[in-house]
Amino acid sequence: MSVLVTGGTGYIGSHTVIELLEAGEDIVIVDNFSNSKPEMIDKIKEISGKDFKFYEVDLLDKEKLENVFKENKIESVIHFAGLKAVGESVQKPIEYYHNNITGTLILLELMKKYNCKKIVFSSSATVYGTPKTVPIKEDFPLSTTNPYGSTKLMIEQILRDVYISDKEFSVILLRYFNPIGAHKSGKIGEDPNGIPNNLMPYINQVAIGKLECLNVFGNDYDTIDGTGVRDYIHVVDLAKGHLKALKKAREMTGVEAYNLGTGKGYSVLQIVDAFQKVNGVTVKYRITDRRPGDIATCFADPTKAKVELGWVAEKELDEMCEDAWRFTKNNI
Ligand code: NAD
Ligand code: UFG
Repeated sequence: MSVLVTGGTGYIGSHTVIELLEAGEDIVIVDNFSNSKPEMIDKIKEISGKDFKFYEVDLLDKEKLENVFKENKIESVIHFAGLKAVGESVQKPIEYYHNNITGTLILLELMKKYNCKKIVFSSSATVYGTPKTVPIKEDFPLSTTNPYGSTKLMIEQILRDVYISDKEFSVILLRYFNPIGAHKSGKIGEDPNGIPNNLMPYINQVAIGKLECLNVFGNDYDTIDGTGVRDYIHVVDLAKGHLKALKKAREMTGVEAYNLGTGKGYSVLQIVDAFQKVNGVTVKYRITDRRPGDIATCFADPTKAKVELGWVAEKELDEMCEDAWRFTKNNI
């Protein structure tokens, strides 16, 4: 019996596959390399010292995806595959809805057909929209402000409806906060195509000299130093959360959502400061206008995951900065 990991060569998927392999799980990965590279396959094998099956398949290609279900006994699915850039989703809504929603529907059709009824889904804190208060709890109102976020919210709803129609399903919705950092080996990490949208990869590219200066988007928010506050979580902690979620999915039927965050918020300038101190580098920055759509503060209440999954984030900000930089120095 195997765990199917969609998007398993991506940033969070690759770190999760390593944890799964180390825990003795049998893994089948599908990815179309739209945002990852084939070399990830060997890197995952090298780091884990374990083997797994890989299929270069687009979720939109039902025939090829069905072949994966035919050739393997898929017991459960961890579903990472999707497009994830907020700004790009505003420019290309059709691509985002098609890839993320249609891809998930095809996956679910095949799961039903092959009697596979356990799924762990990569959702996002973006489904909380502009929260009225922090820390954010799972039962806060849900809303979105861009097509990417809408795909996450719609998929959550689709999965709830699937469960209503078939009570044998178990669905775990993992709402990630801000994953950063990299594997200790320095071999895998976050390496986005083009100019990074997210803070940590941007900081790394400035520190290594690939980009000249970090734009800090606004210093007039109602926060400790005026810059935006987020809940940054080490990607390996996040990966470990998936093992706990899979265990839960195997023990229950129903739908449960969990925040995966640390419960602590750091400002942009606190991140820059920590990165500089820990790594002994300089990150040039300037204050610019706010980025449209950004909120002042966002951090999780991770209590539900602690109580029901037995999971807590263990790594601190310094380690996140140190691990991200090791990956950058080795690879970028
Ligand atoms: P990523 O882009 O590194 O990984 C996604 C992987 O899915 C890539 O390898 C890509 O090639 C693959 N993929 C995309 N569409 C596909 C398709 N149609 N068929 C097959 N493969 C496909 O992104 P990530 O940061 O690892 O994120 C993983 C998941 O977590 C995504 O669903 C993302 O929306 C979600 N998420 C990410 C963050 C974050 O900050 N990184 C935050 C919240 C939620
Ligand atoms: N920021 C900068 N300069 C940059 C990039 C970011 O100042 O070049 C600031 C932002 O304004 C924000 C903070 O750094 O205050 C974090 O920004 P990110 O883009 O790294 O992360 P976001 O919190 O905006 O978005 C992330 C994911 C989304 C997800 C969202 C919801 O990238 O996919 O979290 O939690 F939807």
